[in-house]
Parts: sequence; structure tokens; C-alpha cells
Amino acid sequence: MAELRLRPARESDVAPLLALINGYAERRMLLQRSEESLRARLPDFLVAEEGGELLGCGALSELGPGLGEVRSLAVRVDRTGRGVGRALVARLVAWAGEREFAQVLALTRRVSFFQALGFELTDRRLFEDKLRTDCQACPLNVCCDETALVMPAPRPAAGSARARANAAGPGVAWASQAGLRAAQARG
Ligand SMILES: CC(C)(COP(=O)(O)OP(=O)(O)OC[C@H]1O[C@@H](n2cnc3c(N)ncnc32)[C@H](O)[C@@H]1OP(=O)(O)O)[C@@H](O)C(=O)NCCC(=O)NCCS
Repeated sequence: MAELRLRPARESDVAPLLALINGYAERRMLLQRSEESLRARLPDFLVAEEGGELLGCGALSELGPGLGEVRSLAVRVDRTGRGVGRALVARLVAWAGEREFAQVLALTRRVSFFQALGFELTDRRLFEDKLRTDCQACPLNVCCDETALVMPAPRPAAGSARARANAAGPGVAWASQAGLRAAQARG
């Protein structure tokens, strides 16, 4: 059986990503993405693939200084319940650690799914100013039923350049974001 692989999204993923995300958006499970906004945010996206087939995606957006948000998390309906979503969120959290975010926010109806990954309940009013633009664009903005959770102090993946730099203490040069993404692309 082909191995699950997580990698940064690329240009050729735009069409399948739009189909996946907006398929769920039509069912009001995710916020709709236009092609323009997806292309603009493509560097935030990770995709999960198996044997070259795209199974899922998730994005880590910067909501404000030191604050990341997990967005557009989606797994193909015929591939749910096998750990793909969990693997995507775990990688996004590690990436948040590498980007030195102090917190990662998730707004979701899948509360136990995020709690199992270490996210904690929080008060969404703490983030209201940062969320205003998205909430205005959301069809559910006046009757939102999403719960806010945060991952405090996300940690880079063990063995990553950032983790090694942390272990070595201050003063150690840290690889650029571009270098990191290139390393992720190499798998
Ligand atoms: C939410 C979503 C991303 C989860 O993706 P997924 O790949 O099914 O997630 P996982 O398989 O990692 O975990 C889902 C559940 O399956 C369970 N699971 C994981 N691996 C499993 C396995 N091998 N066998 C059986 N169950 C398993 C998990 O424990 C989890 O249980 P929970 O629902 O009680 O939390 C997916 O259902 C989806 O795309 N939903 C629609 C869009 C959406 O709601 N996105 C989230 C917005 S924040």
C-alpha cells in the first residue's frame, strides 16, 4: 500500500484543493475559498497524498504576530477516519513551532478531534478583532456554532532544524522559511 506523504501545496494542486474545500463549503462545513484567495495563500497549505492522489489539506495562516490559525482542514470523504486529518494537524502544529508562533487557533465543530491533538478550549472573544474579516465573509456569522481552541506553545518536530537550534541554545543560525519548505518538499 502506498505511503501517506505530507508536502507543501504547489500550483498543480489548486484545482483539486478548490474542489475539496468548496465541496465541504457547500455543506457549510468549511469557509468557501475563491481561486484567487487560494492562490494567494498557497504557501500556507500542506497537502496529504498517497500514491500521487490528493487525500486532504490544511493551512496554517498567520492571524497576527505570533498567532497561527489552522484553516481549510479537509480530508476526502472516502478517506476519513484513517488518521489523515490528525497527521495534517500534527504537521501544521510542528510547522507553527518552526515559524515560532506562540499559539495556534482552531475554530471548529470537531472539538474532541482537536482536543485529542493537544488543543485546549478558549474564549473566541479573545480573538474577535483578528477574526473579523473572515467572520464577515462567513454565511454563519450571526449564528456561528464553532468552538475556539488553542494549542499553546506549539513545538517544532523533533529533529527539525528549529528543534536542533533550540536544543543547542541561542546564537545558532536558523534555516530560512524558504529552506524549510524546500526540505519539506524533498520529503
Ligand atoms: C475533520 C476532518 C478533517 C478529520 O479528518 P480525518 O482524516 O477523518 O481525521 P482522523 O482520521 O485523523 O480522525 C478522525 C476520527 O477518526 C479516528 N481515527 C483516526 N484514525 C483511525 C483509524 N485508523 N481507525 C479508526 N478511527 C480512526 C480518530 O480518533 C478521530 O476520532 P474523533 O472523530 O472522535 O475525533 C474530516 O472529517 C473532514 O474533512 N471534515 C469536513 C471538513 C471539516 O469539518 N474540517 C474541519 C474544520 S476545522
